[in-house]
Amino acid sequence: MGALVIYFSFDGNTKLIAEKITETINADIIELKTSKRYPTEGFSKFFWGGKSVVFGEKPKLTNDRIDLNRYETIYIGTPVWAGSYTPPIKSFISQYKLQGKRIALFASHGGNGAEKCFAKLKAALPGNKFTGETAFLEPKENSEESLSKADKWATDLLTV
Ligand SMILES: Cc1cc2nc3c(=O)[nH]c(=O)nc-3n(C[C@H](O)[C@H](O)[C@H](O)COP(=O)(O)O)c2cc1C
Repeated sequence: MGALVIYFSFDGNTKLIAEKITETINADIIELKTSKRYPTEGFSKFFWGGKSVVFGEKPKLTNDRIDLNRYETIYIGTPVWAGSYTPPIKSFISQYKLQGKRIALFASHGGNGAEKCFAKLKAALPGNKFTGETAFLEPKENSEESLSKADKWATDLLTV
């Protein structure tokens, strides 16, 4: 059975990592998309994004139906927003009842909150086996280091 990398990325940082992992382990990849648009600039981006996390929003996903039966291992990637995972990931978790999967978590962040984000993700995904988790500090700004870290992490996980 195969592996799937599934992620949400607002500014492209998590996307960069997701694509690297996909290439390293030769997985399928799905970027979660929503019909909801968040403001992309300045303060309002943080305000609306943070507010939607705090209020537990689950924006509607516009992706085609995903057949998770094809995958034993799922890599879930998210930016850290307000010390948590992003609303589209919340939508994904609520829409698909993940059970009995091997799950590895990765996150992009600006300096703090990744540990809390992972703890919340694990609490939201009971009944699965967590094989690894790792955080990347602003990958687009630290791309060389981030990409080699992602490559090594994904390679090591193949033997877990
Ligand atoms: C609404 C919002 C909230 C954020 N909250 C946090 C946070 O709590 N901790 C942190 O380290 N970074 C925070 N960030 C920064 C992002 O996690 C970071 O820039 C990440 O690399 C963005 O990933 P992306 O380009 O895939 O969207 C926040 C960014 C936004 C837009």
